[in-house]
Amino acid sequence: RRRRTIFSGIQPTGVPHIGNHLGALSQWQSLVKEAAQQPAESRDSLFFSVVGLHALTVPQDPARLRAERRDMFAVLLALGLDDAKGGAVIFHQDQVPEHAELAWYLNTVTPVNRLMRMTSWKSKLATLRNANSEDEIDDSMLQLGLLAYPVLQAADILLYKTSHVPVGHDQAQHLELARDTAQIFNRAYPGRRKDGKGKGKGVFRIPDVMLTTHPRIQSLRNPLEKMSKSAPHPSSKIFLTDSPSDIHAKIKSAVTDSIQGVTWDPETRPGVAALLQIFSGYSGEEVQSIARRFEGTRGIMEMKESLAEVVESGLRSFRGEFERIRKETGYLEEREREGARRAREAAQATMKEVRAAVGT
Ligand code: ADP
Ligand code: NA
Repeated sequence: RRRRTIFSGIQPTGVPHIGNHLGALSQWQSLVKEAAQQPAESRDSLFFSVVGLHALTVPQDPARLRAERRDMFAVLLALGLDDAKGGAVIFHQDQVPEHAELAWYLNTVTPVNRLMRMTSWKSKLATLRNANSEDEIDDSMLQLGLLAYPVLQAADILLYKTSHVPVGHDQAQHLELARDTAQIFNRAYPGRRKDGKGKGKGVFRIPDVMLTTHPRIQSLRNPLEKMSKSAPHPSSKIFLTDSPSDIHAKIKSAVTDSIQGVTWDPETRPGVAALLQIFSGYSGEEVQSIARRFEGTRGIMEMKESLAEVVESGLRSFRGEFERIRKETGYLEEREREGARRAREAAQATMKEVRAAVGT
């Protein structure tokens, strides 16, 4: 088995909610556990990054960014992602300058039209157009950084010669761009073979997507929408740092319906289905078998009580760790330096090859 190199990133935009956890971060935790079981000589290399440079592509407040990137780093440590054996390199993308450097090299081979066809860019344009009745967009609202965001993401991935990228469906298009960019670059700059005899195969490994299998977690207030950081109402989501009483209160007031008893029926009972998905995410049980346990007339209430327990206990050790770690500024800084140092070692090796291939 060829050793896998796995990279994924998360933006430092506030404490994650349980949708982010079940949809992304819990997969990272599983990958770390899996790596711990592998023999040392073929163990996966894992890189998980807080991608601060991506947070600069929208208007942002420096004091808030400073706090949020530190908090996100503490979140990743508190999730146990760097636990000794098989642990990941946890680092700040913005502390490894090779990310921005490689992004520039990749910019030079990326067609602008391709970027303008990205769904993320088009939906941004559509939002601005809708907000403006004259169908004219203020130039100052569309920056190059936002257009080039997927190129920076490709650089994040390719810099570690990544073979596998765990992401949600919403990132599939960006991953396709990363793969294509790697191929274009490899063809444009094949370099030399190691034995010096003829052309090489190019610097980059073509990364595979590992699509998250967990279903989307829906909002507790509107089960037709996904649970989202950007939704204004804090009671629509459960943050990983919520207190037990917050968790109980939010689940108790979650929107369901007036039908008695619990059944699994996402079409007609989206509110109940949303809660069952969360239940299943934290207990590992099948949604249908959870539903069968709460068929009685007071089923919804009983299921909510039980769900609050399951979520609360699922987050308990994280919450304790997070509270402890985030107060230890010296420790956090030391871990940040160590993470950046380890990531940089790999990043510099790749950049050396990139420069050799390009002629810089
Ligand atoms: P948000 O959508 O809340 O702003 P991000 O876009 O920062 O969150 O997403 C971070 C990660 O969490 C991504 O991998 C994304 O697919 C995943 N994610 C976000 N919201 C949900 C959700 N409601 N259910 C499952 N996964 C989610
Ligand atoms: Na989002």
